[in-house]
Amino acid sequence: MELKEILLNLKMVMFGGKGGVGKTTCAASSAIWAAEHGKNTLIISTDPAHSLGDSLGVELPPGEPTPIKQIKNLTALEINPKANMTEFKGLTTMNPMEDMGMGGMMEGLGMSDIQEFASMNPPGIDEALAFGKVLEFIETEHDYDLIIFDTAPTGHTLRFLSLPETLSGWIGKLLKLRMKIGKFFGVFKKMFGKDGMEEDNSLELLQRLKNSIVNARDDLTDPSINSFVVVTIPEEMAIAETGRLLNELLRYNIPNSDIIINQLYQDPTELCDFCKSRRDMQQKNLSKIREIFGEKLSKKLIEIPLFKTEIRGYERLKEISEFLIQ
Ligand SMILES: Nc1ncnc2c1ncn2[C@@H]1O[C@H](COP(=O)(O)OP(=O)(O)OP(=O)(O)O)[C@@H](O)[C@H]1O
Ligand SMILES: [Mg+2]
Repeated sequence: MELKEILLNLKMVMFGGKGGVGKTTCAASSAIWAAEHGKNTLIISTDPAHSLGDSLGVELPPGEPTPIKQIKNLTALEINPKANMTEFKGLTTMNPMEDMGMGGMMEGLGMSDIQEFASMNPPGIDEALAFGKVLEFIETEHDYDLIIFDTAPTGHTLRFLSLPETLSGWIGKLLKLRMKIGKFFGVFKKMFGKDGMEEDNSLELLQRLKNSIVNARDDLTDPSINSFVVVTIPEEMAIAETGRLLNELLRYNIPNSDIIINQLYQDPTELCDFCKSRRDMQQKNLSKIREIFGEKLSKKLIEIPLFKTEIRGYERLKEISEFLIQ
């Protein structure tokens, strides 16, 4: 599908690829184009090292969807991965009794369970949970026609898709733990009254989060709803990473039809020797990309020139969109 059709017809578009290739630039530029073509658009940066605000040239308070004043129909959001974790305090502290200075009492109640439970936290889980929270949001009622994701560099991007399985493991453990210590919770509630002990609703939160990710996963894998646009540059390392990303998309069943090849050196007559040799290198890799991804895998290839200036702010992003939307 052409990027134009994707932006006009789908509900979600994700931009991803290797670090520094131009994901944020292409996502922001596409968002502006979509907003100016009548789509009420929300662009979300899920990369903890945000640069969406910088790219748009606006201040984005973390975690707050911010309407972009100059551009009708466009709202931008940089998610706040740390803030999301406080909701799961019961999980991260693992033991409300410990908080109350009664940790010793847990010993008879299967400390090994708790330790096992704690060891299940895979690295990068806060990022995955943060993405989970975003998916939970998009599965609720909202007015946006189109949601564009500016994702973190490849590697972490799709981990959240296996989050439901991780969460299932947690929920099972937490349930078992609850059953074992349930009696004691009851006793304490009676002793201190409800206010004496903080209610731990992590389990309900986890269950809800899991359900919405399962629903979102259905949407993310539906080609009439979502498309993942891969951004790359004509360099060997980027091509290798693009190959891995395409495999990952296939594995998770995420629709992909378009690949953006960014930062292409143009007319060689205008270039210095140094840039000429870089252009030669790029042209070789571009041929490879055309052959492997274009001909063999039938992807739509979108070529973007390397601009003389940094791409920042409305005017420059608009210029990029002329190449994105042919
Ligand atoms: N076609 C282009 N011509 C000139 N500069 C570009 C072009 N595309 C992107 N840039 C510049 O390259 C830098 C990196 O772009 P961008 O932030 O969009 O990449 P990214 O893939 O989102 O990076 P990260 O992985 O750090 O999130 C920015 O300074 C941007 O202005
Ligand atoms: Mg970026």
